[in-house]
Amino acid sequence: MTRREACERPASHEAESMRIDGAFSRGRAIEIVVDGEALPAYAGESVAAALVAAGQRAFRRTAVRDEPRGLYCGIGLCFDCLMTIDGRPNVRACRTAVRAGMRVTSQRGVGTWVRNEAARSVAKLVEVFTNGCPACEGWVAYGRELAGSASRSELRVWDGRDEREGAERQRRIARYGIAELPAIVVDGQLLPCCLPTSA
Ligand code: FES
Repeated sequence: MTRREACERPASHEAESMRIDGAFSRGRAIEIVVDGEALPAYAGESVAAALVAAGQRAFRRTAVRDEPRGLYCGIGLCFDCLMTIDGRPNVRACRTAVRAGMRVTSQRGVGTWVRNEAARSVAKLVEVFTNGCPACEGWVAYGRELAGSASRSELRVWDGRDEREGAERQRRIARYGIAELPAIVVDGQLLPCCLPTSA
C-alpha cells in the first residue's frame, strides 16, 4: 500500500495548510512518524488532529470492502479512526495523544490481529459488550466487521437487554477484565483499543 493509497494525504509541503492561525497558544512542536514519513504535531493534540491538520482524510481501510475510513465522531465511539500506533493495532487516533517519535501506521483491515491467511481460517468468537444504547451501534458494527474478516466466526452481542443472560454477561465482563463499556473481546482477549489510552 503506497502512502497515497493508504492515507490520501497531500504532499508534505501542504502539511500545515489546514491549521488555524489565531491568538491561541499550542503545545511544544514535535514530530511523529506516519507511514514512514515525519509529520509535524503539537504536544497536547490527538493523533487524529495532527493528521487532519495535515489534510489526511483516511486513516484505515476496512477489512471486508477495502473502503477508506477516517475521523468521524471524534470522541471515541465510532471506531472509524483505528490505526496501528507504536506497533499496537486498532488504536483510536482520536483518543490518543501525540508523543515525539510516535510511529503511526495506516491500517488495512484489522491490522496484525489476523496475521496471515492461515489465521483467517481459524474460527473466531467476537464478543461485543454494550449498554444497549444507540451510541454503541458503532461498536457492534466494528465487531461485525471483525467477525466478517474470518471465514468461520461468530459475533455475540452482550447488550444487557436479555435479563436471562445477565449473570453470564457479568461473569464474562469480570473474566475479561472489562473496566468500561462498550468493549470488544476477540477469542477471549480484550481488544487493545478497549484498554485505557493516554488521551
Ligand atoms: S473518530 Fe470515532 S472513534 Fe475516533
